[in-house]
Amino acid sequence: MDHFAGLERTGEPCQDVERFLAPRRPETWRHTLAVAERALALAPRFSLDPEAVRLAAYSHDLAAVVPRPNLVATAEAWGVSLTAEDRAIPQVLHGPLAAAVIEARLSVRDIAILDAVRYHTTLRSHATPLDLLLFVADKIAFDPTTPRLDYLAAMQSGLERSLEGAAWAYLDFVVGHVAELGWRLHPNLVAAHAHLRAFR
Ligand SMILES: [Fe+2]
Ligand SMILES: [Fe+2]
Repeated sequence: MDHFAGLERTGEPCQDVERFLAPRRPETWRHTLAVAERALALAPRFSLDPEAVRLAAYSHDLAAVVPRPNLVATAEAWGVSLTAEDRAIPQVLHGPLAAAVIEARLSVRDIAILDAVRYHTTLRSHATPLDLLLFVADKIAFDPTTPRLDYLAAMQSGLERSLEGAAWAYLDFVVGHVAELGWRLHPNLVAAHAHLRAFR
């Protein structure tokens, strides 16, 4: 089954994503608009191109249309290469899957946009400014699946220093509360946390 059969390319990728996602996942779309608004508000401070920021934000949770039990098979069908950890923590795959879909179906070629979408859940070591901006905006404009929001104040004060400071605040909360959250830490998240230690 092609979960993205209704995603049609017109040459206006933001509109294409909205037309596809908004009616299918209204709650995800509300979150998407909140992420885009937050990311666009921050973009000038970090000299990021607003069109790239908007497309990355609009696309990041596009794969929410895929039920979690189907994520591994769907990612494989779209040519996403999977590690053992990806298979063990399949919820992180909605980022890499969304990147693969917008590249193939909407002809998005900007590697900075594709990477920001790909790594928006886990981040990665040596993240780019666009990776960090989308990651931070996504966590601040939290989605309905977020179990706890204790990290928001730390993120806001980290953000007064830098994007790295805000990302560090979130990752350090997750790493410090992993047992009670019941999460497994993806290696990309662990690597990002280690890299950002210098920015705390
Ligand atoms: Fe996401
Ligand atoms: Fe999100």
